[in-house]
Amino acid sequence: MLRPRSAGGATGGALVTVRTFDTAVEAAAALAGEVACRIREHPALVLGLPTGRTPVAFYRALVRSIRREGIPVSGLTTFNLDEFLGISAEQPGSYRSYMEHHLFGPIGLQPGQVNFLEGTTPDPRCECERYERAIAACGGLDVQVLGIGANGHIGFNEPGEWLALRTHRVTLRPETRRANAGSFGGRVDAVPHEALSMGLGTILQARKIVLLAAGREKARAVSLMVRGPLTTAVPASFLQLHSDVDVLLDRAAAALLADRGAERDRG
Ligand code: PGA
Repeated sequence: MLRPRSAGGATGGALVTVRTFDTAVEAAAALAGEVACRIREHPALVLGLPTGRTPVAFYRALVRSIRREGIPVSGLTTFNLDEFLGISAEQPGSYRSYMEHHLFGPIGLQPGQVNFLEGTTPDPRCECERYERAIAACGGLDVQVLGIGANGHIGFNEPGEWLALRTHRVTLRPETRRANAGSFGGRVDAVPHEALSMGLGTILQARKIVLLAAGREKARAVSLMVRGPLTTAVPASFLQLHSDVDVLLDRAAAALLADRGAERDRG
């Protein structure tokens, strides 16, 4: 059993719990074990989900656990964090097709169980409001799984002068479009300029937040998220306001926390 080590740097009594693992695969496996356990204990779990390169190992391990342990998923409801604007669900670069490939297909989730922002909506504002209502109608998110951008973004809540509270339309930063080029045949110019994303307020209303980060390029954002001031320049810093956040890291992503008390957990 993994024992969390606290590395709280937050104000107002909030606490971000950091757990560091030797490798990214170990961190992803630990997270998958916890999520699988929650699904087993609460079959009607409402689960918020991320996309990106980092969660691939998490989804692989989660699929393995669900299959190996025969965990029923027919009561599960999922909400993904974000989707590119102007991209249909069927297009290979869409986050919807990523999720079909990495999770929904392999564990057999039915279309009625998964919730997604519609990238080809003719009315983005209305679509964002629909999403907020859908989350509320399910009683809110029980567990929100997150990644973090090297620029400190959460979902597509990009650094800037202000943050939107609720699900909204967002203009992607150049570094975010570059980071997503892999899903569009390596062509940055093919990555949409806009997306729809849950807002930080929507995310912070989840009962439990778990964040997975790996690689040296995430170390600065991770350090600012856990110990930095609350600032719209690092949207992830607002996670310090939540009372139940677990951050699972590989050693590289934890590199800038190490000298300040984050500890390695060998499990
Ligand atoms: P990544 O994306 O795992 O591909 O680095 C994470 C994120 O942007 O949230």
